[in-house]
This record gives sequence, structure tokens and C-alpha cells, in this order.
Amino acid sequence: MKVVAITGGGQGIGRATAFHFAKAGYAVSIADADVAAGREAAKILRETGAPAFFQRTDISKEKDVAVWVQATVRELGCPDVLINNAGFSRNAPFLKLKPKDFDAVIATNLRGAFLCSQTVARRMAARKKSGAIVNIASTRAFMPEANTEAYTASKGGIAALTHGMAMSLAPYRIRVNCVSPGWIDVRDWKLSSRARAPVHSKTEKEQRPVGRVGRPKDIAEACLYLADHAGFVTGQNLTVDGGMTIMMIYEE
Ligand SMILES: NC(=O)c1ccc[n+]([C@@H]2O[C@H](COP(=O)([O-])OP(=O)(O)OC[C@H]3O[C@@H](n4cnc5c(N)ncnc54)[C@H](O)[C@@H]3O)[C@@H](O)[C@H]2O)c1
Repeated sequence: MKVVAITGGGQGIGRATAFHFAKAGYAVSIADADVAAGREAAKILRETGAPAFFQRTDISKEKDVAVWVQATVRELGCPDVLINNAGFSRNAPFLKLKPKDFDAVIATNLRGAFLCSQTVARRMAARKKSGAIVNIASTRAFMPEANTEAYTASKGGIAALTHGMAMSLAPYRIRVNCVSPGWIDVRDWKLSSRARAPVHSKTEKEQRPVGRVGRPKDIAEACLYLADHAGFVTGQNLTVDGGMTIMMIYEE
């Protein structure tokens, strides 16, 4: 049975991706800083018959990452796929953005992805089988929005880390790609006590060429494609945003 390791798999896009990979026959290891969400996600997965493991992990901490990866190998086996999904934003007007908030976002979103990739890739390389890493970036990496500098810089870093690692890890038969989501409504994929049904205005739907807002499953499907069905694809970014970022806007 193949093993997928997912950071931030307790809720949101990570939880939906965990469920999607389990359906595709994977054993799932979840790292999340939110214990209630991570435990609940792993419990639901086990109830559906999928081998699943959760470890409370702050991916910005080297020791936590080392413990999670070691426990994953012990409980489920060496990961075949790593999804670097955990992330958050701390937006503020640029002139007031505190350096400690900038550092905190970079520490999880970018440094955390580096730590998890290096720790898992060492295991993948040692077992001499192919592997795949999928990083979750954002359309913010390529299109600006005011007052999001910490988040935007972290996601731009993820895009660059992706093509860098794709070259460095190619000799070990590890492919590395990233997915850049547009707005994905994750309200219904939160810890069950916090989950809410998504509701979208006509404008929100019509703003996107495909006529709807993104769902976590849209990203999960892209991750599974890159992990399982894209043997000739590495170092790439796949934008999944319903066409939002290719659209020109003119006033008529
Ligand atoms: N939802 C969107 O519209 C959207 C758009 C573009 C990119 N993304 C990216 O997708 C990823 C998932 O976003 P989401 O909307 O599902 O978020 P979410 O907040 O619903 O879930 C993120 C999960 O990551 C965990 N997490 C945060 N920091 C962590 C840390 N240091 N260590 C371990 N776990 C940590 C949280 O506890 C949470 O369970 C993020 O990287 C985000 O930047 C989301």
C-alpha cells in the first residue's frame, strides 16, 4: 500500500486531500498543529477502513518534523508522496507589518515545507524507489494583492523551492511540483464542530470563468494527478483557480 504524508491534513484542503488519497488506496499520515482537527480527520479515515496516523506537529520546528516522519515510517512505512500543504497568512498594512509576523509566516509556509521535504526526501532517497512531492503554493505567488507581503513572499518562495528541489531530487527519481489554488472555500472541511456550509453570492460565482468558487476537492484532484499520473512532469506549477488569474478585465 502506498503512503502519503500530508501537512495541515487536519482540516481544509489538507483534510480533503487526505480523504481523496485514502479513496485512491493510500495509507495516510497527517501532521497538524491542531490536535482536535488532526485526531478527528485520522479517526474518520480509519472508520472508512483506511490506515491513517496523526501526529501533533508544528512544521516550523525541526524536532517535530523529525518525530513525525520517523513515526510515519514506523506506523505506515516510508512515504511515497509528501504534500506540503500546511500554511497560514498574517496580513497587515505593509507599513505596519511586524517583522515577527513576517518571520512566523515564512517559518511555517516556506521553512516548514523545506524541512518536511528534506526529511522525507532523505528517506525516499535511501529506499531507492520513486517518490513525489507536491507543494501547495497560491495564485498570490504570481499575482499581487496589497497588504499580503508575508504570505505572498512565502508562496513565491514555495514556487521557487519547487523548481529548485525538482532539479536536486531528480537523480533520486523524486518529482517535485506545486499547485497554486485560487480562492478555495474550506468552511465545510473544518473540524466538525467548526464546519459551516459554504454560501456564495452571484458575484462571487460569476467572477470566476468556470462560474463557481473553488472546492477543496479541486486541489485534492490536482495533487493526486501530480503524485500518481504525471510521471513526466516535474518542476511545474499547476494553477487551479477556475480561470481567475488568466482573465483580462475591461470596463464596457
Ligand atoms: N483556501 C484557499 O483559498 C487557499 C488559496 C490558496 C492557497 N491556499 C493554501 O492551501 C493550504 C491550506 O489552506 P486551507 O485554506 O485549507 O487552510 P486551513 O486553515 O483550513 O487548514 C490549514 C491547516 O494547517 C495547519 N497548520 C497551520 N500551521 C501549521 C504548522 N506550523 N504546523 C502544522 N500544521 C499547521 C492548521 O492547523 C490547519 O489545520 C495553505 O498552504 C494555504 O496557504 C489556500
